[in-house]
Amino acid sequence: MWLSIETPEHMIDAIQNLSIRGAPLLGLAGIYGLYVSAKCSTTFSQFLVYSQKIRNARPTAVNLSKMVDRILERYTSITDLGILQDLLLREAFHYEKELEEESNLISTFGATLIETNDSILTHCNTGSLATLGLGTALGVIKQSYFQGKNISVFFTETRPLLQGARLTSYELWKSEIPATMIIESSVGFVMQNKLVNKVIVGADRIAVNGDTANKIGTYMIAVLAKENKIPFYIAAPCSTFDKKIQSGKDIMIEYRSGNELSPMFEENQQNIINPAFDITPIEFISGFITEKGILKQPDL
Ligand code: MRU
Repeated sequence: MWLSIETPEHMIDAIQNLSIRGAPLLGLAGIYGLYVSAKCSTTFSQFLVYSQKIRNARPTAVNLSKMVDRILERYTSITDLGILQDLLLREAFHYEKELEEESNLISTFGATLIETNDSILTHCNTGSLATLGLGTALGVIKQSYFQGKNISVFFTETRPLLQGARLTSYELWKSEIPATMIIESSVGFVMQNKLVNKVIVGADRIAVNGDTANKIGTYMIAVLAKENKIPFYIAAPCSTFDKKIQSGKDIMIEYRSGNELSPMFEENQQNIINPAFDITPIEFISGFITEKGILKQPDL
């Protein structure tokens, strides 16, 4: 199904309802968001108001605000909306290619960590649907499989919006990679029973000290990995590193409606919290797989 987005309001809605999601893809949505904003504005100040709304549509994945800020800064002297539209469209096409190349490089670097007979656990969706190209964490898995390594994959359902059950399962199936889905609460069980020996997940924002925000449940998986002596890797492009944030405690976490947990709680939302992300402290992370190579903490 194709979604045609023609207005900034529609772009904001698509970002907030997760029709477009995943940190790298949100960066691209930011540029297209600026383009539709320029197209739908009658004055430059209206364009700026839309731009800020797009920038702040989701707070945790840094790629969205970073891309909007970067592009606005680049064209700060241009106030002609027609000229801006051309430039923004060109930027978007260019960034599409960049994203694809980045995720393919991440996949190739990450695959060097994977050995035949590895069993890899991943969380949420970090494939082509979140990044273009092969993906980040899921890209590493795909690339290893395409290289002929005999690997097995476990992936989480990813409560409450089921990015694993709906998206990761689809991508694994399309790539013909045999994989097993589990609920998040089974992660301890599969680790204790030695069904996985590596974890690779993506990231939404990485602080200067290496603390990492990612889909809710990631911290729990990282703690269990450490307890079970299983290496835990983050795969993400350099655009997900945030030089302005020193540590995880400064990363803003998005809280979503309690409705997403179950519509039957609609009347009772004050008793629900639904954080979309959590923070994994650096001490649980074995390394960062980026398009520039694999980094340990001191290299950050
Ligand atoms: O709420 P989402 O679906 O946008 O969250 C995405 C994630 O947290 C992913 O796990 C991911 O690691 C970042 S995108 C490759």
